[in-house]
Amino acid sequence: MNLYEFSIGLLKQHQVPGGSFPASPAFSAYQYCWLRDGTFTAYALDVAGEREAAAGYYRWVHKTIIRHLHKFYTLLARRQRGLPLSAELFWHCRYTTDSWEGSEPWGHFQLDGYGAYLWGVAEHVKRRADGDEFLTEIQESLEATVSYLLEFWQEPNFDCWEENGDRVHLSTLAAVYGGLQRISELLPDPRIAPACAEIRAFVERHGVANGRFIKSLGNPAVDASLLWLTVPFDLFAADDARMVRTVAAIEADLCTGGVHRYPSDVFYGGGAWPLLTAWLGWYYLQAGQRERAQELLDWVEAQADERGCLPEQVPEGLLFPEERKRWVDQWGEPARPLLWAHAMYVVLKKEMMRN
Ligand code: BGC
Repeated sequence: MNLYEFSIGLLKQHQVPGGSFPASPAFSAYQYCWLRDGTFTAYALDVAGEREAAAGYYRWVHKTIIRHLHKFYTLLARRQRGLPLSAELFWHCRYTTDSWEGSEPWGHFQLDGYGAYLWGVAEHVKRRADGDEFLTEIQESLEATVSYLLEFWQEPNFDCWEENGDRVHLSTLAAVYGGLQRISELLPDPRIAPACAEIRAFVERHGVANGRFIKSLGNPAVDASLLWLTVPFDLFAADDARMVRTVAAIEADLCTGGVHRYPSDVFYGGGAWPLLTAWLGWYYLQAGQRERAQELLDWVEAQADERGCLPEQVPEGLLFPEERKRWVDQWGEPARPLLWAHAMYVVLKKEMMRN
């Protein structure tokens, strides 16, 4: 069996009957379902034609949001009364596979997964013959998510690496933008177009330095998650000069064969991530540079172990080699298989087959 088929089988095999996906079945801290990982996993299943598996995930997110809807109402009531909105009042970025919040002291408040959810649903619905019915089934959570993002997109919250909760991050804004934009094509809402224009202007005003996009407001570093600004969230075109310079910086500062997250990353010594390497390939396909995309795909394939499993990261070109041991001592080797890594591999492979 090739890695593409193996990956699809693996994603389906680890989907919990209720529809969710643990981030990694083999890593103790990753038994939660993150909306970010989960949505890209469902998207990979969608592009592979596994419609019902993807639908199961979106139904699970819908139920999860409805269960926690009261938190949104509490936030709105507090905001109206001028009371502080502390981070724990917001919707969590990850849930147990049966939709409960986790209790670890991690950064729970992240908005990108909710933007991704809206985007993923739009991608799913366009592939269904009965798209309208499906949309109606989960409409309540979609509308609540739209209102939630419109209300809070400017709040500082943890980035997609679950760090820097005191800042506003460009990849998060891209996910919010992409989700709102795409869902408005299916569920028109007059508030969305002006908000999207505002997000875009905000990024252009505060998120550019030295002619390229930056990791977060006030932090000019490069970060591989900036790829999201083009693929898939379409905030800026692949050939936008600022995006081209951002990708040049990713190549120069973060690519050693595989792609690293950001220059000061110490997590497991700061290795190279298959999922980000596939993401860079996805960008190059969009930019019409197929050869480079193929090289990146080859690199990802070479990281699969003898069973075919892809890890979260590999210790290639470690940014901080001396940091690796303390993570291995505490948690064991990096998560493998990481479902999100298999998902991004499937996405790139399928795009290569199509193009
Ligand atoms: C990553 C997140 C990811 C989570 C589960 C964390 O280490 O920083 O981006 O969602 O793992 O895979």
